[in-house]
Amino acid sequence: MVTDSLITPQDVDAERGVVLICCSTHGEGELPENIRPLYDALARTRPDLSHLRYGVIALGDQSYRETFCRGGKTIDALFASLGAERIGERLEIDACTQPLPDEEALDWAKEWVSLL
Ligand SMILES: Cc1cc2nc3c(=O)[nH]c(=O)nc-3n(C[C@H](O)[C@H](O)[C@H](O)COP(=O)(O)O)c2cc1C
Repeated sequence: MVTDSLITPQDVDAERGVVLICCSTHGEGELPENIRPLYDALARTRPDLSHLRYGVIALGDQSYRETFCRGGKTIDALFASLGAERIGERLEIDACTQPLPDEEALDWAKEWVSLL
């Protein structure tokens, strides 16, 4: 889980391993408030993250159609543009049809860890 109080751009830049990002979507396809400071700082300073591997769990709701999971897609695109290597496919969890997002995420994470 990423929150602005737990992880900073310096943490990401210093990291020599793996990051698993979990990000929902708020507003009309917008990033949640707690990840925006991290996103903005990385987008502004554009550090080289080619040493980093990452995964993305995106939370959304299909009823938002065109902005489904856009928060997770946005952060995924940023990390990729900074040279980080995504491991596996992005998980997109639909709150509309999935009453147990934690369980879906856990099942996915077990597979994801095996790819590292
Ligand atoms: C006001 C509001 C706006 C939302 N906008 C979107 C959206 O644009 N796209 C999307 O896929 N999901 C959207 N969602 C659904 C949330 O991303 C989804 O319910 C998610 O599981 C919320 O997780 P969180 O409470 O941990 O942030 C929205 C939910 C709310 C309440």
